[in-house]
Amino acid sequence: MDYFSFKNRALHCEEVPCQDLAIQYGTPLYVYSKATLLHHLRQIQEAFAEVDPLICYSVKTNGNLSLCKLMAGKGSGFDVTSGGELHRALLAGGTGAKIVFAGVGKTDPEFRAALDAGVSLFNVESEAELYALGEVAREMGKTATVALRVNPDLPPKTHHKTDTSVKGVKFGLDLETVMDVARGVLSHKHLKIAGLHMHLGSPILSVEPYRLGVAKGLILIAQLREMGHPITVMNMGGGFGIHYRKEEAQPAKAFAQVIVPAVKQAGCRLVLEPGRFIVGNAGILLSRVIYNKESGGKNFLIQDAAMNDLIRPTLYDSFHRIWPVHPAESFPAPPEDYEAEIPGTKVVDVVGPVCESGDFLAKGRRLPPMNRGDLLATFSAGAYGMSMSSNYNSRVRAAEVLVDGDKHYLIRRRETYQDLVQAELDVLAGEK
Ligand code: LLP
Repeated sequence: MDYFSFKNRALHCEEVPCQDLAIQYGTPLYVYSKATLLHHLRQIQEAFAEVDPLICYSVKTNGNLSLCKLMAGKGSGFDVTSGGELHRALLAGGTGAKIVFAGVGKTDPEFRAALDAGVSLFNVESEAELYALGEVAREMGKTATVALRVNPDLPPKTHHKTDTSVKGVKFGLDLETVMDVARGVLSHKHLKIAGLHMHLGSPILSVEPYRLGVAKGLILIAQLREMGHPITVMNMGGGFGIHYRKEEAQPAKAFAQVIVPAVKQAGCRLVLEPGRFIVGNAGILLSRVIYNKESGGKNFLIQDAAMNDLIRPTLYDSFHRIWPVHPAESFPAPPEDYEAEIPGTKVVDVVGPVCESGDFLAKGRRLPPMNRGDLLATFSAGAYGMSMSSNYNSRVRAAEVLVDGDKHYLIRRRETYQDLVQAELDVLAGEK
């Protein structure tokens, strides 16, 4: 469910023709639908309402301040993984009580900033981190509230680069060591072990990993309590998948059916850290065709968005739906089945201007014939699109626009060449 649709063969975001946005703001351009974003946040809030969860939007997914502000306004907290994300969350109106801090490499200055902000939960991922946090808390005369992040060692469930709960990844404490680690800090004056955290991976298209995860979680929570830790929080992370190709994802309530009973059984407050589910299908990337090219027996559609704008296809072989913004009469909307042959289409690699063979948005994709200047939409680009973008090849980062009904707002201006060199120091000024 989203608010991008073809009306009279023109792609609209809510009530606004995407072509108008491309003309006004240029391309490549990220376009977000406010209604879609809030719809998905609401889906999660409603699905889990029974246990009154703390929903912490995962800032890494898309940290644009306007989007974060929208979510804070609807009651969302924030999951942060760096001092920079904490900064964003606070700027967006987040309060410490609704912020959780994850990540394997938190530094002392980050601990200090988070303790100052009063973050509600540190998701701690190693014994060394636990003691370092305890030390900073002691120096500051504070107590850090901690959820031990455990790696539940589940079967593979998503792309290997984003699977965080298989043996041998850097995330979390091993099942075998978590109890020893917990025992070591039983009487620590500045650490309170109040929760158990797991983030299984991303994106996850089945509820099964959560079923296995909560089962292991319940056992650990019982053991931690028996040891004397007052466990009141069960943090099940994020990871809920979305529709990239067709209707392949689970609704929020399917995950709730598995997670809610376990949370009730544990008598815990549920924390969730969804990102992709909320913002993924709320964003598209608009680009403009520069050239068609035939080479080595292949067709290339060269357009102005590149791997620096959306790195997911080349990094994870991810599939994003792509379609003309103004399709010809015989191609009114993207196909239901991307494998099917569509008369009149051409198989192309959709590539960008970056100097790498790995610079593509799609490979071997059937698309209607497109000409120089035509606009293209890459769908489901709201999550891990802009937030993973870079200035590679000294390309300026894209602009971002938020659409609300028939209104639209620039929420991040396109970078300039001046932005590209702004942070560099010209120490050789004056030298010949
Ligand atoms: N919590 C933790 C501890 C995480 O590491 C992540 C994502 C989330 C929550 C949010 O997961 P989500 O609900 O968005 O699935 N760049 C990759 C995804 C990396 C996910 C990193 N961690 C991609 O583009 O697919």
